[in-house]
Amino acid sequence: MAFTIAIDGPAAAGKGTISKAVAAHFGFAHLDTGLLYRAVGAKTLDGTDPIAASLALVAEDLDNDSLRSPEVAQAASRVAVIGEVRAALVDFQRAFARRAGGAVLDGRDIGTVICPNAEAKLFVTASAEVRAERRYQELIAKGTQTSIETVLADVRERDARDRDRAEAPMVAAKDAVVIDTSSLGIEDAVAAAIAAIEAARA
Ligand code: CDP
Repeated sequence: MAFTIAIDGPAAAGKGTISKAVAAHFGFAHLDTGLLYRAVGAKTLDGTDPIAASLALVAEDLDNDSLRSPEVAQAASRVAVIGEVRAALVDFQRAFARRAGGAVLDGRDIGTVICPNAEAKLFVTASAEVRAERRYQELIAKGTQTSIETVLADVRERDARDRDRAEAPMVAAKDAVVIDTSSLGIEDAVAAAIAAIEAARA
């Protein structure tokens, strides 16, 4: 049976961690839709046209550690404002969402545009400062040279671009449960997410 869990929210709010834990808990498949935009963004760094890149995307393009870099994150949010790029990625996401056995998709517009009829919707957020600190620690752990000021500026710039764009702006769906992880540890955030989804299943 199909069951779609939509998890949206801004950069580094904890969507990825929560989505993976929720998918494991319910035995559902998980799609990090940010990776689609990152893969398109990465291709534009060598001058490839973003719309052509989005139309030519293949599964192997998603399997690349360099997609997690700050440069690719910025490129992703720049290509994500282009309507044709977003349109090229819709069918894949919707097919994934309705696969038998259940699916968790995390992104910016899953509960609003991709799967407005998702059975459960969450919007995971946290203050920009807390999100920047988390992303800074992730980058440092991977050996990336950066500063907390740079990461905070990057998070704020992407937030603004994602929130203010005309196509599929980042916004909580009216029927989404909002989880603010600013002062929640991973276990509590995951427990809050599972409780909200169990309530939607009941
Ligand atoms: O991991 P993080 O939250 O920093 O970013 P991400 O989820 O990998 O997304 C990277 C960028 O892709 C975002 O800043 C958005 O501009 C774009 N994106 C989007 O527009 N729609 C989605 N469903 C997912 C990501």
